[in-house]
Amino acid sequence: MHDRGKVLTGLAIFLVLVLFPVWFSLFGGGLAAAPAVSKPAGEDRCVEKTEYMKTSHMRLLDAWRDDAVRNGDHTHVDPWGRKHEKSLVRSCLGCHKDPGYTQFCRKCHDYTGVDPNCWECHVIPEGQ
Ligand code: HEC
Ligand code: HEC
Ligand code: HEC
Repeated sequence: MHDRGKVLTGLAIFLVLVLFPVWFSLFGGGLAAAPAVSKPAGEDRCVEKTEYMKTSHMRLLDAWRDDAVRNGDHTHVDPWGRKHEKSLVRSCLGCHKDPGYTQFCRKCHDYTGVDPNCWECHVIPEGQ
C-alpha cells in the first residue's frame, strides 16, 4: 500500500519534469496564450476596452442578452461614447465580419477548446 503511493508520487513528479517543455511552452505566455486574431478591417475599437473583451466578452454577451430580452434595453454605450445595438449577430458579427466568425471567434475558441451553443438558435451570417 505504502510503496504503491510512493511509486505513484514518483511517477507524477517524473512526468511533470519530463513534460516541462510542453507545459512551459503552453503556459509560458501566461493567460495571454491565444492565437493572434486580426481586428476587423477599418475598425480600431471594440465595444469595450480590448483587455476586457479578451477576458470577459462572454460575460458582456450574457448581460446584453438579459438586457435586450428581459429588460427591453437594446443600447450599449461604449467607453468612447459610441452606441451599439445589444445584439450578438448584428453587432459582434456585424463588425467582426472581415475576418468573420470562422477566422475570428472560432479560431480562438478552437484553440482554447470552447464551443458556445449560441448557434443552435442564432444564425452565423452567410460567408462568415
Ligand atoms: C435556445 C435558443 C437560443 C440559444 C441556444 C441562444 N440564444 Fe440568444 N436568443 C435567443 C432568442 C429567441 C433571442 C431573442 C431574439 C430577439 O428578441 O430577436 C435571443 C437573444 C439574444 C441576445 C439579444 C438580441 C440579439 O439580437 O442578439 C443576445 C445578446 C443573445 N441572445 C446572446 C446569446 C449567446 C451569447 C448565446 C450563446 C452563449 C445564445 N444567445 C444562445 C435564443 C437563443
Ligand atoms: C464596431 C466594431 C466592433 C464591434 C461591434 C465589436 N467589436 Fe470586438 N473588436 C473590434 C476591434 C476593432 C477590436 C480590436 C481592438 C484592438 O486591437 O485594440 C476588437 C477586439 C475584440 C476582441 C479581442 C481580440 C483579441 O485581440 O484577442 C474580442 C474577444 C472581441 N472583439 C469580441 C467581440 C464581441 C463578442 C462583440 C460583441 C459583443 C464585439 N467584439 C463587438 C471591433 C468591434
Ligand atoms: C482572443 C480569443 C477569443 C476570441 C477572439 C473570441 N473568444 Fe469567445 N471565448 C474565448 C475563451 C477563452 C472563452 C472561454 C472562457 C471561459 O470559459 O472562461 C470564450 C467563451 C465565449 C463564450 C461563452 C461560451 C460558453 O459556453 O460559456 C461566448 C458566447 C463567446 N466566447 C462568444 C464569442 C464571439 C461571438 C466571438 C467573436 C465575435 C468570440 N467569442 C471571440 C476566447 C475568445
